Amino acid sequence: MKTAIVLGASGGLGSAIASILAEEYTVIGTHHGKEHPEIRNVTWKALDLADASSVKRFCEGISSVDVLVDTVAAPLKVQRFHQIPLQAFQEDYAINVLHPLLLLQTLLPKFTKNGSAIFVLSEMIYETPAFFSSYAISKYALLGLVKSLGAELKEVRVNGVAPGMMDTKYIKTLPAFVKEQYAKAKGLVKPEKVAQAVKKLIDSETRGEVVRV
Ligand SMILES: NC(=O)c1ccc[n+]([C@@H]2O[C@H](COP(=O)([O-])OP(=O)(O)OC[C@H]3O[C@@H](n4cnc5c(N)ncnc54)[C@H](OP(=O)(O)O)[C@@H]3O)[C@@H](O)[C@H]2O)c1
Repeated sequence: MKTAIVLGASGGLGSAIASILAEEYTVIGTHHGKEHPEIRNVTWKALDLADASSVKRFCEGISSVDVLVDTVAAPLKVQRFHQIPLQAFQEDYAINVLHPLLLLQTLLPKFTKNGSAIFVLSEMIYETPAFFSSYAISKYALLGLVKSLGAELKEVRVNGVAPGMMDTKYIKTLPAFVKEQYAKAKGLVKPEKVAQAVKKLIDSETRGEVVRV
């Protein structure tokens, strides 16, 4: 059976993706906190994307990989630009971009033929609201990563998805009225719908594409 790695499989979107992929793949799911859901055919490994040594240890335990899906994001910071300390930008960049990039780089030789890597961006790359600068910057960086690696890598097809708001624990710090307004205007996106889009990209031949969901 082929192997899929789902980074952040303990999360709302990650668990939906892991569940779909588990029908076809042996799935290695990562969690950061102490808890993770039980999903059939998913084995669990701890991973801290804030820590490069955790990435190295994780990669040492992987012998071969067909699919990599990164759904991890650092805790959401909703703040005015001038109030965000540099350290917070650095944390978001490390967890959302730099260490996933290190992980992909380290695993490259272990990808099987026609391997696939999917990164989760956000619809904020199309409509960028105020007060999310650190998060948005990291998602734009992922757009650059998908586009450049989509053009460059032969061994792995790199693509992305850009979801709208999903009702997961990720947005628990948002004021209720923000969620309500969004739900009324656009409708919340179901993680299962995003998971279907991820599976479609994995099964396609595309490279360097970002699908808005
Ligand atoms: N929710 C939304 O409205 C929305 C909208 C657009 C895009 N997105 C994107 O969708 C992706 C998934 O979000 P979600 O809503 O499923 O969030 P979620 O439920 O909060 O899941 C986030 C995942 O990231 C893991 N994680 C957090 N910090 C980590 C770290 N330092 N190292 C390794 N793993 C870490 C969490 O692990 P634990 O559970 O073990 O702590 C969890 O598995 C993210 O990239 C997010 O930016 C979300």
